[in-house]
Amino acid sequence: THRSRVTVIGSGNWGSVASKLIASNTLRLASFHDEVRMWVYEETLPSGEKLTDVINRTNENVKYLPGIKLGKNVIADPDLENAVRDSNMLVFVTPHQFMEGICKRLVGKIREDAEGISLVKGMEVKMEGPCMISSLISEQLGINCSVLMGANIANEIAVEKFSEATVGYRNNKEVAERWVQLFYTPYFIVTAVQDVEGVELCGTLKNVVAIAAGFVDGLEMGNNTKAAIMRLGLREMKAFSKLLFPSVKDNTFFESCGVADLITTCLGGRNRKVAEAYAKNGGKRSFDELEAEMLQGQKLQGVSTASEVYEVLSHRGWLELFPLFSTVHEISSGLLPPSAIVEYSEKLPRSF
Ligand code: NAD
Ligand code: 13P
Repeated sequence: THRSRVTVIGSGNWGSVASKLIASNTLRLASFHDEVRMWVYEETLPSGEKLTDVINRTNENVKYLPGIKLGKNVIADPDLENAVRDSNMLVFVTPHQFMEGICKRLVGKIREDAEGISLVKGMEVKMEGPCMISSLISEQLGINCSVLMGANIANEIAVEKFSEATVGYRNNKEVAERWVQLFYTPYFIVTAVQDVEGVELCGTLKNVVAIAAGFVDGLEMGNNTKAAIMRLGLREMKAFSKLLFPSVKDNTFFESCGVADLITTCLGGRNRKVAEAYAKNGGKRSFDELEAEMLQGQKLQGVSTASEVYEVLSHRGWLELFPLFSTVHEISSGLLPPSAIVEYSEKLPRSF
């Protein structure tokens, strides 16, 4: 029999929850090997022990997802090459800034028949223009890469509260169905759509809007203002996605990866939380400092994504078309005060 073997590359807050979801399914379904390998970026804990050893001894990621059993069939592995060697299904889930280095290390080390899926929300900007993380994976490793995004605050899924997610696939429906099978549980409903770029841009760009929502919260501007920011943000998400990839479908914005992820992240995400603190401090404490203090090793994606989006917008002469996206970057880089988040209404384009 040819049972699929799965490796999860990443073991942060969401990476650990993804491993738990997957491990419950590989145990249950005959078409998958029970064991799930989880690559851990090794670190030494204050106790002097290695994180990997503690995960394998306690079955918990004590640093990034304390209190949650991952499933006995999750095996933590600090050796990236060893972790991917035997697997034909590779799940990528690290903060986006680390993906380029990880891909470089994986060249020539993975199975030829491997398929990838990216849960990473973010993009890289190259000389040639923006490069989504799924394309980075595809291009560097020569494999097909789908994406999974959605309204998925990891800590809520860890305790099995109901939510939905979206798989974006390129052209092979059967491959998409295997990924759906691997993730689907009664409390995690996964739907596949044929729109990799649309799904991935939704997941990436909503982090910029969440920073704006956090500023609004920090300045105590109220619910109407926050809803307005979310609406303007969704409009810019759609316009930006379609300018970059005309193939992006309108319906994708109504899937979990679109409006639902935007809402949950603006209500309860880490980007929102740290941006709120930034505005409360009047921009006097940097995002890096607040991230380190408030998130204990977890990483924000919104601030760097705002900067990456800004680079694309200025390079293409599109800054005036995207006042919300550009203002988020101008605030988070210290050029404007947090209150500027609602001071661009005259700049809003009249037609979109
Ligand atoms: P996280 O924010 O918990 O980040 C910490 C992880 O980064 C740890 O595993 C740490 O070991 C690793 N790390 C630190 N330095 C590293 C390095 N130099 N090289 C490689 N790894 C390093 O991570 P996460 O929450 O699993 O997020 C991963 C992706 O999933 C992000 O793009 C995020 O936007 C997305 N996501 C997160 C959530 C969530 O609720 N946490 C939900 C959906 C999507
Ligand atoms: P934050 O990174 O802002 O916590 O957002 C998590 C997320 O992507 C929920 O789907």
